[in-house]
Amino acid sequence: MHADTPAPTPALDLNGVQALAREDMAAVDALIRQRLASDVVLINQVAEYIVSAGGKRLRPMLLLLAAGALGHRGPDAHQLAAVVEFIHTSTLLHDDVVDESDLRRGRKTANAVWGNAASVLVGDFLYSRSFQLMVELESMPVQRILADTTNRIAEGEVLQLLHVRNPDTDEPAYLRVIERKTAVLFAAATRLGALLAGADEAMQQRLHDYGLNLGHAFQIADDVLDYASDAETLGKNLGDDLAEGKATLPLIHAIRHSDEATRQVLRAAIENGDTSAMPAVMAAIHATDGLGYSRQRARDYAALAEQSLDGLDDNDYVAALRGLARYAVSRDH
Ligand code: IPE
Ligand code: IPE
Ligand code: MG
Ligand code: MG
Repeated sequence: MHADTPAPTPALDLNGVQALAREDMAAVDALIRQRLASDVVLINQVAEYIVSAGGKRLRPMLLLLAAGALGHRGPDAHQLAAVVEFIHTSTLLHDDVVDESDLRRGRKTANAVWGNAASVLVGDFLYSRSFQLMVELESMPVQRILADTTNRIAEGEVLQLLHVRNPDTDEPAYLRVIERKTAVLFAAATRLGALLAGADEAMQQRLHDYGLNLGHAFQIADDVLDYASDAETLGKNLGDDLAEGKATLPLIHAIRHSDEATRQVLRAAIENGDTSAMPAVMAAIHATDGLGYSRQRARDYAALAEQSLDGLDDNDYVAALRGLARYAVSRDH
């Protein structure tokens, strides 16, 4: 390396990222707790239940780090970080109803405890509360980004519904779904951080691209974990995707590379959402290295995310963003 090009700060590991963001995340957490409140008891119970179960708080962290990478910290970033976590939490409440899941963040899901109606309605409460927090900033660009993003997420969820039990779901279709249901919120978080820092459109776009690629990597990794982790580590049940007839990348890859007889078994498993076919599905995924393929695709997206940061001046926050790109594809929950 040239003497006049100093080595960039090495990517931080998760502990390093958390240490860097600790103070700001504590402020975000306090804000989340404070703004959950409602005088309707059931809302407090359900919202408190899912929020206190933890979660990785990745999206608010990304917003803070993107802002920090461009030199901005402070209350507006805390507020928008809380907004993106509220949006995320509301999608989880809805997602567990749609997916009929009964384990989340190591606890019974809210729908398993209080039923579908309560989960959907409290999800709506959190979603609209996020917009109350958002408008307090009185920024039309912020409002536009979040209005567009939440609308795309809703499209993604419906698009996914259209693919349920459809064995013809291929990789491009899968990618279209995960872009909307997951990646756009990551992209909004990092773009909003850049916007708060007063970055120009080109720089906002870089941070957006980082978040979008990271979101793809993150969801592909999640879909691998649904086949490859254990419930205790993951805090969610394994096999949920097959159970609901959802064709995710490991299975899509297996279908593409299996012989005709196996292909018929896999297609039927998706059409029927048939968990009794799980052993055959696992065997086919292993035989075709569906997990290895998917992990590589996730790493490809994580590498693209890191590349999106190339034009940024080096600092600890940029190193943290690089670190999170690596974490997203090496995590075990
Ligand atoms: C779960 O997101 C939904 C996906 C996009 C896979 P997270 O894995 O970030 O959930 P928590 O907030 O940490 O529980
Ligand atoms: C993520 O998809 C859904 C959202 C973006 C809310 P999944 O259905 O795979 O998420 P998990 O596995 O239930 O967390
Ligand atoms: Mg789900
Ligand atoms: Mg999942």
